[in-house]
Amino acid sequence: MNRILIGAQWGDEGKGKIIDLLAQKSDVIVRYQGGNNAGHTVKFDDEKFILHLIPSGILHPGKICVIGNGVVLDPAAFFEEVDVLESKGIRVRGRLLISDAAHLLFPYHKLMDQLREESLVKKKGMIGTTKKGIGPCYADKMARLGIRISDLRNPGYFKERLAAVLKERNEILRKIYKHPGLSFQEVFSRYNSYRKRLLDFAADTSLYLYQASRKGKSILFEGAQGTMLDVDHGTYPYVTSSNATVGGAIAGSGVSPTLIDKVMGVVKAYTTRVGEGPFPTQFPPKLMETIQTKGEEYGSTTGRPRRCGWFDAVIARHAVRINGLDELAVMKLDVLSGLSEIKIARAYRIGSKIYRDYPSSTFDFSKCRPVYETLRGWQEDVSGIQRWKDLPERARCYLKRLEALLETPIKIVSVGSKRAQTIFL
Ligand code: GDP
Ligand code: IMO
Ligand code: MG
Repeated sequence: MNRILIGAQWGDEGKGKIIDLLAQKSDVIVRYQGGNNAGHTVKFDDEKFILHLIPSGILHPGKICVIGNGVVLDPAAFFEEVDVLESKGIRVRGRLLISDAAHLLFPYHKLMDQLREESLVKKKGMIGTTKKGIGPCYADKMARLGIRISDLRNPGYFKERLAAVLKERNEILRKIYKHPGLSFQEVFSRYNSYRKRLLDFAADTSLYLYQASRKGKSILFEGAQGTMLDVDHGTYPYVTSSNATVGGAIAGSGVSPTLIDKVMGVVKAYTTRVGEGPFPTQFPPKLMETIQTKGEEYGSTTGRPRRCGWFDAVIARHAVRINGLDELAVMKLDVLSGLSEIKIARAYRIGSKIYRDYPSSTFDFSKCRPVYETLRGWQEDVSGIQRWKDLPERARCYLKRLEALLETPIKIVSVGSKRAQTIFL
């Protein structure tokens, strides 16, 4: 069974927790897009792990993890993550492969991301990125100016390529951003020092995954970010720079779609968004504060508060369609306990025009006002509930309504951050 797990909102849906649960029944876990802009939280035994680049499956001994060709890899962040995991007794070496074709993220990517965002603060157009250099690294990949893991195998070529790219980057840094630029010697010697250690992990992971699948191994694809942050299908330009939808799993791992059995979408029982961009169902300030506090809605990567709002069935249906979701995991149901009423946006309105589907123009999307339906809330604490039938009736009604609006069955309901706080249907 090969399954892709996709965030069906704006990221931070709780993918890490679900990957950790599904990894038990998988052999190989693959990250295929994004970089260390991701922050996937897994909690068990009073331990909390936040994975940024390494698949969340690493926490299960004996599983093999893969960082696919679609990922952009910052070696400093990567080795820091390896060290943290190994210091906590999680063995990474020997269990992780990095694609030869994955692109390396360099300090100039990070710097350009930071400087561009800072220059836009005063003007309109700031994205609110994680400032990890993701956009500039993917831009270089597409402009064919990127440097890949496999390029490290040939030190002469690597040196020459880095020198040429950095020369141009420094021109931009100096002329546009009035920055002194970066020293080639420093960047080169730092990356040269990573060379051997990185190559120890490097492999043709597309071939590895094909062979694993042929041997009957079960592969779990760990999406990062979410559908509305997808560079093509999200709220462009307020998106990340990769395909966070299902196509990203195929291109970013080099695995054929014919090998995929199921696509699961992860949603929160409400909606959150970190960074800039339109968000029709955003709560008014008081409710925002209540849910932010109760749901601990602070970014796992940047610590920024996440904006919170009602469940938006229009964007979730968009995710169902784009990704062909077969099944859903609904997270953080516990956070909604205690509300007198709960709203779901089932359509949008611009003036008198009703939109049942997500409008592909972000300008139109920014004008959309939600059309809500209102359900009665439940007061009971649900965080200890283990069975569907023990959930309060109003909570079950809410979930049934989500299922009906999304025309997709719910397979998992999460009522707390720990492994045990999960209801399987
Ligand atoms: P990801 O990026 O999709 O993996 O999600 P994050 O890890 O960034 O954010 C999800 C947050 O919600 C983490 O802090 C999780 O520990 C937490 N979480 C996951 N499921 C639940 C749940 O059912 N209830 C509550 N209260 N917290 C949850
Ligand atoms: P996970 O995998 C939520 C958002 C940023 C910003 C936009 C672009 O944990 O769900 P970037 O640094 O990627 O260029 O930023 O995307 N963003 C995320 N939001 N969860 C994430 O990852 C995100 N990764 C990027 O906040 O709005
Ligand atoms: Mg996250």
